Amino acid sequence: MKTILSVVGARPNFIKIAPLAKAFKKYRKEVRHLLCHTGQHFDKQMSEIFFDDLQMPKPDFHLGVGGGSHASQTARIMLEVEKVLAAEKPDLVVVPGDVNSTLAASLVASKMGIPVAHVEAGLRSFDKTMPEEINRIVTDVVSDFLFVTEHSGVHNLRDEGMDDGRIFFVGNTMIDTLDANYDAVEAHPVADELGLDKGRYIVATFHRPSNVDDRESLGALMETLGRLARERRLVFPVHPRTRKSIEAFGLAKKIPKGLILTEPMGYIAFLSLMRYAELVITDSGGIQEETTYMGVQCITVRKNTERPVTIDVGTNHLVGVGMEKVERSAMDILGGTTKPGRIPEMWDGKAARRIAQIIMDHKE
Ligand code: UD1
Ligand code: UDP
Repeated sequence: MKTILSVVGARPNFIKIAPLAKAFKKYRKEVRHLLCHTGQHFDKQMSEIFFDDLQMPKPDFHLGVGGGSHASQTARIMLEVEKVLAAEKPDLVVVPGDVNSTLAASLVASKMGIPVAHVEAGLRSFDKTMPEEINRIVTDVVSDFLFVTEHSGVHNLRDEGMDDGRIFFVGNTMIDTLDANYDAVEAHPVADELGLDKGRYIVATFHRPSNVDDRESLGALMETLGRLARERRLVFPVHPRTRKSIEAFGLAKKIPKGLILTEPMGYIAFLSLMRYAELVITDSGGIQEETTYMGVQCITVRKNTERPVTIDVGTNHLVGVGMEKVERSAMDILGGTTKPGRIPEMWDGKAARRIAQIIMDHKE
């Protein structure tokens, strides 16, 4: 019997690991799959709700590390993960995405001589001011299985000298989750509940430090969203990092009518909100991919993206961080200048099954 231990910590991790936990069930006679939650994200709306929505097993281990500076958060996760790995001695550790939990767990496992599988390997923004970029590079270097979501990832890993035998282009487990839940997403009443006209409202999410940690940037962003909210109702589920900044910078007093701020939403509700939106404006990684899959127009308020397939093939518009450009681009889209998109190769709902199969077929 093999023991495989997956380590998750932040909102997007839960969504990426759910289909893999399910895929390993098929091998339950050969595999014991354990789930370790670092506690990086801890609010009900950032964590527990996803386990409920996606019918995921409760974590076998909960490390309760919470927030903190990069060094302190990463270090605490490392110390706690080390104890779990020492006790369970897994044959493989699986880490999804690019958050501090991903980095910490992959470092600890690899130094203990435990093979590591990175789900969503090879993505690169080529911008080391993003903490995620450092997490991606380090995790890939120490990983034994590099499971890649789009062709750019394969090229990046080859350019960095990774051996082809470690690279597997398998598709996207975040899209597996969307594919598996699409009927529920389409049926969810969130748009009606918020009194929105389907196809005629905007959704926004922001949480990148470069956009929300600075008073001027967040102020300008809120002003732009406020202006767009005069054109269409605009729903903005607010990430805890962003909520803290809105409060700290005193921006809560200036929220204009038409701009609807909500708590972070559960998975099915939020995906449904995006499904019927005319436009999504975001700095999220995963949302660029989900809008591409659903064919919804997406403006990404960043200077770069590690997910170029969403630009080349999908419905994503990378516009930079200048607010004039963001507003102009949004107005163009609301005026009908939209971009057609296709679903990227291998985003077919079967990535997790491919990953499980590759792991099970692997001979040391
Ligand atoms: C993290 C990831 C980021 C990812 C995002 C997904 C890193 C370096 N960053 O960013 O890549 O895109 O998650 O959402 O790993 N907080 C709460 N309640 C929660 C979660 C967080 O209050 O449930 C607070 C924390 O205490 C902290 C702040 O929000 O003050 C930021 O949390 P943290 O996990 O450090 O980074 P994120 O911005 O969430
Ligand atoms: N998401 C959600 N509720 C929200 C906002 C986002 O369920 O209120 C989902 C989103 O659809 C995607 C994931 O959370 O599946 C992305 O998380 P986030 O944007 O926090 O992280 P990133 O992808 O940028 O790392």
